[in-house]
Amino acid sequence: MTTRRDFLKSMGAIAPAIALSRTSWAMGGGGGGGAGGGAASLNVPVFELPLYIPPVLQPTSSTATRDVYEITQQNATVEIIPGTQTAILGYNGMTPGPTIMVDSNREVAVRHTNNTNVRTTTHLHGGHMRAGDDGHPVDYVNPGETREYVYSNKQLPATLWYHDHTMDVTGDQVYAGLAGFYLISDDYERSFGLPSGDQEIAIVIQDRTFAADGSLVYNDTIMGELGDTILVNGVPYPYFEVSTRKYRVRILNGSNARSYTLALNNGASFIQIGSDGGLLPAPVVRSSINIAPAERVDVVIDFTNVPVGSQIVLQNTAGTGSTSQIMRFDVATAADDGSVIPQVLRPIERLDPAAAVTTRQWVFSAGGGGGTPWVINGLPYDENRVDAFPKVGTTEIWELHNRTGMMHPVHIHDIMWQVLDVNGRPPAPEDAGWKDTFKVPPGGTVRVIGRFDDYVGDPNDITTAYMMHCHILEHEDHAMMTQFIVVD
Ligand code: C2O
Ligand code: CU
Ligand code: CU
Repeated sequence: MTTRRDFLKSMGAIAPAIALSRTSWAMGGGGGGGAGGGAASLNVPVFELPLYIPPVLQPTSSTATRDVYEITQQNATVEIIPGTQTAILGYNGMTPGPTIMVDSNREVAVRHTNNTNVRTTTHLHGGHMRAGDDGHPVDYVNPGETREYVYSNKQLPATLWYHDHTMDVTGDQVYAGLAGFYLISDDYERSFGLPSGDQEIAIVIQDRTFAADGSLVYNDTIMGELGDTILVNGVPYPYFEVSTRKYRVRILNGSNARSYTLALNNGASFIQIGSDGGLLPAPVVRSSINIAPAERVDVVIDFTNVPVGSQIVLQNTAGTGSTSQIMRFDVATAADDGSVIPQVLRPIERLDPAAAVTTRQWVFSAGGGGGTPWVINGLPYDENRVDAFPKVGTTEIWELHNRTGMMHPVHIHDIMWQVLDVNGRPPAPEDAGWKDTFKVPPGGTVRVIGRFDDYVGDPNDITTAYMMHCHILEHEDHAMMTQFIVVD
């Protein structure tokens, strides 16, 4: 099958990214990745390496109202599988990149210098920022160039992440390492007494396939690239030592295509306190959590009554074999907890469907003709076509229809939304908070409501468009993407 991307490649329009070993361009069957990847000859340690916590990036300059951060995007070689070297693309040469921690309403500028051999764009996923600072896929930063992205952070505290968003090669370049956390907080959230300090971590779960020499194997599988090895913060199957306290764990599914069903093997539940767009109105107790690519869940795991010496595996009950386990919590010491989980978190103002001025229909399907496997409303992404012009200050309902046999995690840039219903039924409490990524079930429909408060773009400048796309990155790269411009 020839795709738009293959066509672009044949035209030389896509730079060969990095030293990824591509085993083929064949259409994948959607099965387990890594067939022929040679991983069997690699010795991947399980629960032998400590969890890595990316460093918190310090601003290089600050004024009373603004912090400036600098990041250099680099080709780098790192040791992921012990005894081997892996070529990556990394923010500051590491994967995941450094964590940026900011407060709501304080302006931040992040200056990205592209010292890699490929062009990039950088998107802040979950960020609400001026149109034009959103990392539009063709708003390229070429090798050697520096680009300053400005974020107002006029939004609620939440777990965000920054990642590559380059036209046609987002899958390649995120897989190669270009992703990092961006955490927004505020005094209100800090006042709760939630687990914090060494009782708070952020983890990104990613699946990768390694060749026998440790290099990453990426096939750009059109159904969605699935790896056979689970990394947490860039480490295969790490362990994390905890004490008998509660821990706040912000979980990001940073995988290209794999969804996980998270469960603890001691039968304990997660206490979910937040989702994509920040805190839920009240905690939700969940024995398992399904998380699609790009979704975030903010949970508390309670080890206060767990005997010292216990080892608790975070499992993926949706996986088999090497993808059925993720990491392990080792209860190493006894300690006083001191944290609390308030029964009331952050109240959420419900958006009123009667206030919506427009209802838009978006159909996600396969086979649009012209060799394009994935389309929205029958059309492949075209950077010169804008499919919606919502008016600033108005509320809209968007109906996301899935006309395929697989789930698509649909992500909308710019604003946070509320789910009205999934296949006609109101969302579960954990999905009733602010969201930016929606699991649209096979053959199903999700209706979401959102308000376009600000950040008007220029209808004649597509780099001021915001994107909507499937966050299975190979679907996005194979044209399951559209764009909209907020207008006056
Ligand atoms: Cu996380 Cu448009 O992306
Ligand atoms: Cu985004
Ligand atoms: Cu998809």
